[in-house]
Amino acid sequence: MKDRYSIVGPFYDLMSVIYSFNQIDKCKTAMLDKIKPDSNVLFAGVGHGIDAIAAAQRGAKVTVVDLSATMLKRFNKGIEKKTFKHPIRQLHQNILEIDEFSKYDMVFANFFLNVFPEKMMIQVLSLLTKLAKKDGFVVVGDFSLPKGNLIAKFFQILYWRMADLFFVIAAKNALHPVYDYQKYMRELGLKIKKVKYFRMLFDDRYYSILGQK
Ligand SMILES: C[S@@+](CC[C@H](N)C(=O)[O-])C[C@H]1O[C@@H](n2cnc3c(N)ncnc32)[C@H](O)[C@@H]1O
Repeated sequence: MKDRYSIVGPFYDLMSVIYSFNQIDKCKTAMLDKIKPDSNVLFAGVGHGIDAIAAAQRGAKVTVVDLSATMLKRFNKGIEKKTFKHPIRQLHQNILEIDEFSKYDMVFANFFLNVFPEKMMIQVLSLLTKLAKKDGFVVVGDFSLPKGNLIAKFFQILYWRMADLFFVIAAKNALHPVYDYQKYMRELGLKIKKVKYFRMLFDDRYYSILGQK
């Protein structure tokens, strides 16, 4: 299968730092304080994986999944010369092939669900929920739902559309409006325990949502 991130993959994290003034990285790592040493933690669509690396540094048993060899190559660069209590398990696979049900204490989907068209996004989120243990957590970090007055909403939608369009062209991601992840998480039976917002310019642009099974 063609690696859709072969062109943008090497620059992905640099682009996200510039595009968000580093707020995306803050969002991705916002719920790491919930991680307990020796707990099982999964990162779906890990990319360069600063979040997964930080989780392993906290002593968690980390599994990362990504379909892109380019992204996993960058991930491996990031762990060069680092040692962890538990070595990071890497799966070069489609997330839909993962069937380790009720195994994980925490499942992270950071800027991952937005790559899919709506129907598939719900299918993936439903699978991630099944991979979490009873009482385990599912964390979604992503673009937050536009809010505020008409002008504020206009700029938030424009901001998302610019990124979406770029990745539609560069990585064949889906073209869609900002998803209401909290709604889908609730519909899948997750209880929303915490939401942390990250601002850029004048308003909230990203959020990290902590859902509990
Ligand atoms: C937008 S990037 C986000 C990467 C990372 N989570 C971050 O926040 O920087 C989406 C990632 O999901 C991976 N991906 C896309 N579809 C996938 C699938 N079906 N299974 C596993 N990984 C997938 C891509 O290769 C890419 O690394």
